[in-house]
Amino acid sequence: MSNGLLQDRVVVVTGGSSGNGRAIALAVAAQGARAVVVADVLAEPREGGRATHEVIGGDSVFVSCDVSRPESVEEAIAAADPLGGVDVLVNNAGIVGPASPVTGMAVDDFDRVLAVNLRGTFLGCRAAGRGMAARGSGSIVNVASIAGVQGSRTSAAYSASKAGILLMTQTLAFELGSSGVRVNSVLPGIIQTHMTTVDRPLASDAYDATVAKVPLGRLGTPDDIANAVVYLASDLAGYVTGTSLVVDGGLIATIS
Ligand SMILES: NC(=O)c1ccc[n+]([C@@H]2O[C@H](COP(=O)([O-])OP(=O)(O)OC[C@H]3O[C@@H](n4cnc5c(N)ncnc54)[C@H](O)[C@@H]3O)[C@@H](O)[C@H]2O)c1
Repeated sequence: MSNGLLQDRVVVVTGGSSGNGRAIALAVAAQGARAVVVADVLAEPREGGRATHEVIGGDSVFVSCDVSRPESVEEAIAAADPLGGVDVLVNNAGIVGPASPVTGMAVDDFDRVLAVNLRGTFLGCRAAGRGMAARGSGSIVNVASIAGVQGSRTSAAYSASKAGILLMTQTLAFELGSSGVRVNSVLPGIIQTHMTTVDRPLASDAYDATVAKVPLGRLGTPDDIANAVVYLASDLAGYVTGTSLVVDGGLIATIS
């Protein structure tokens, strides 16, 4: 493709091996990205199939990366240096953690969810933001969740981590705006990935009841999230920063 929305960009996608991250990596490649750095703890998709960077081919690479570890994130961002540096960073890696009420939650479980989701996003923004600011351009898209604006019975750590991402996104948009760097977040609703089909599967009756609540009448797909990320990362969103794009089929608008 010669006129993709992300033509010749170098894109880093954390958690790019599976689910939403894999769809994002494939979508940015389809929009002309010159290379995609897939940064993940696992190379193989959790749902099965060939590794993302192999499917994309070209200069795309896999970097073994635990986003909760500063040096690991620095290495993932540095992997883009030989390609000219990071144009687009998608902080997508995330875990949901065990379902638990706050009063019964293990401290280690709380800390791990915050470390991967919130600290991981901070570390990615910090590492890539420096180079973007120095070059005077770049786009960061943070994958949050509607759980960051709506509480739930058993996901306090997850919700807290996603709420934190939303405010960090706004703060960083302010910090980097004058350097020509845009920072936005996407809030997925319920998307059919390993996280929702295996880590926290809905029983069939709960599944039907959940789908019935979605105005658009279906759960989301990873491609729904990838399309939103492509938009925010691209020049189409050139006057958009600090915003939160909800991609949930209308679910949050109808929760009372
Ligand atoms: N699926 C949903 O319904 C949903 C809803 C809202 C938000 N999200 C968000 O979308 C993002 C992707 O989730 P998904 O649904 O695709 O889940 P997934 O489990 O399919 O994919 C998550 C990916 O992140 C990777 N990962 C996990 N911990 C990591 C770490 N420490 N360092 C690097 N990579 C790590 C996993 O290996 C995996 O490849 C997450 O941030 C999640 O919170 C998902």
